Amino acid sequence: MCGIVGYIGKNNAIPVVIQGLQRLEYRGYDSCGIAMMDSEKMILEKVTGKVEELQGLLARQKTNSSVAIGHTRWATHGPPTFSNAHPHTSQDGKVALVHNGIIENYKVLRDGLINDGYEFSSETDTEVIAALVSQAYHGNLEHAVREALSHVVGAYGLAVIHTDEPEKIVCTRKGAPLIMAVGEDEFFVASDVAAILSYSKDVIYLDNEEIGILTPDGVTTYSGSDEPIDKKIHKITFNLEEIEKGGYEHFMLKEIFSQPQTIYDAMRGRLLPETGDAFLGGIDHMIGSILHADQRYFTACGTSWHAALIGEMMFEQFARIPCEVEYASEFRYREPLVDAKSIVFAISQSGETADTLAAIQEAKTREATVLGICNVVGSSIARETEAGVYIHAGPEIGVASTKAFTSQVTVLSLLTLKLARLMGMSKTDGLEISQAMQKLPENVEWVLKQADQIAEIAKLYADAANFLYLGRGVNFPVALEGALKLKEISYIHAEGYPAAEMKHGPIALIDKSMPIVAIAPQDKTYDKIISNIEEVKARHGRVIALATEGDTRIKDIADHVLYVPPALSFTAPILNVIPLQLLSYYVAVERGCDVDQPRNLAKSVTVE
Ligand code: F6R
Repeated sequence: MCGIVGYIGKNNAIPVVIQGLQRLEYRGYDSCGIAMMDSEKMILEKVTGKVEELQGLLARQKTNSSVAIGHTRWATHGPPTFSNAHPHTSQDGKVALVHNGIIENYKVLRDGLINDGYEFSSETDTEVIAALVSQAYHGNLEHAVREALSHVVGAYGLAVIHTDEPEKIVCTRKGAPLIMAVGEDEFFVASDVAAILSYSKDVIYLDNEEIGILTPDGVTTYSGSDEPIDKKIHKITFNLEEIEKGGYEHFMLKEIFSQPQTIYDAMRGRLLPETGDAFLGGIDHMIGSILHADQRYFTACGTSWHAALIGEMMFEQFARIPCEVEYASEFRYREPLVDAKSIVFAISQSGETADTLAAIQEAKTREATVLGICNVVGSSIARETEAGVYIHAGPEIGVASTKAFTSQVTVLSLLTLKLARLMGMSKTDGLEISQAMQKLPENVEWVLKQADQIAEIAKLYADAANFLYLGRGVNFPVALEGALKLKEISYIHAEGYPAAEMKHGPIALIDKSMPIVAIAPQDKTYDKIISNIEEVKARHGRVIALATEGDTRIKDIADHVLYVPPALSFTAPILNVIPLQLLSYYVAVERGCDVDQPRNLAKSVTVE
């Protein structure tokens, strides 16, 4: 949730760390700071607010350093104040460190240190680690870090410096992401590849409890049991343009408009339209186990959980195999019926969501086979799962997930098609589905052309206090996703409901100030949804309907109609979610909200 960047090398570390923090700001943005070595002196600068302010402060000071660590924060322990901002230092000012994650036993450790006379200057859990490292330091920073962490329970990604070893950064992780990168006479540590991509594409993924040491001469790595290890250098395949706005006002808008391409990328080489089938290389060897498992679970959070709901419906409707969806945060606490004959799919954009990782651990403890559907290559979830499928959506920077959702649903559709064909779906049906999927990028393009119209509608409803989203079948999770998008970035309260449930309660809310987004495709429930819309109109609610291209009847009832091309239930969720993404985007812009960095949120929730 927070961002870490560290640099050591031949150049000035400060602009590198500042640029890295700016690229990581989408992960946490309530305060930030930097610690750097000036010969053997530690310089520390922090601000509450954005990296831009820190940048201005440092520019005025004209400081230069070849070693620095920086942090952009998403507050967990203590509000976003100057003293709670990272880096945190030890009382003697010799240790400085930046930390992502949560130290669960920090209170006990802190009380013990206070009893010993230690004085803390922040409310954070992180400062405890700085104190422990300082106490354990006897001339070797990596040993001190290892010793300090032996007292710690919790999750961490850490980068640490010490004035007695000014040409060294020690880093380590457990449960929170951290990578090292290798340049020419310069070396980096970061919580996310995006931070260092303009300098290096050669990346080393640290595994849990491994320790990395960066000096001007290179990087070395030690295993959890302190053995030196040779780590593989991975080449990052995405480009800088993918993490830049590319002329769009916001990353979210860029990501919404990139969906024709990202959906295509998720299908490329996997959809077989000539045979009406699909092939998913990463889990092809597991297909038999998936089919014959006693239980199948999807586990995920937030938007990924909505994709999972669609996956469940498709598995059951088309492949006729049962499947359950569970919030990852609930999975481990509800004694799931999971054993060695179970398959658990973990779905995650970031691959770093702490709740999803915890669910994976729970499933593994119960001996289930765990498979991943993930976006970020080399992420913790990708590495913790036995096999998996990458969705290939490219870096998603906007905090509100958009393109990852449609790519997740695309991959789940491919998996369903594969399983359905094996379970007896006819070639004719397979051909119809695969050809509809093949047309998705073009159809998404068509839907995106209504952006201006959606922006106009957004102006009319930007002052609403509440929104209701209604959908049925596979469009119920789409309604949930539309509501979540609106909540996240415009701070308007919104709820998604199965349309027919409206009369069992939410109808009490409807009056002229309540906009209702009704997903009303011409499928088997069309007449029922039309009745729901009539019920809304009878109570003076205002309706934005999402209808099938060519449907003129709905125009007479709804206040506004947005169209999507005719779709099968395989492709409908992807097409229907696009106008809802755009609606939330334009409403948020109209309300003057910070679309890419909405309040209280952060991309990738790496704390439970
Ligand atoms: C919503 C959103 C979150 C994430 C959730 C899971 O726009 O971004 O709800 O979907 O935190 O994140 P991942 O998919 O990274 O595990």
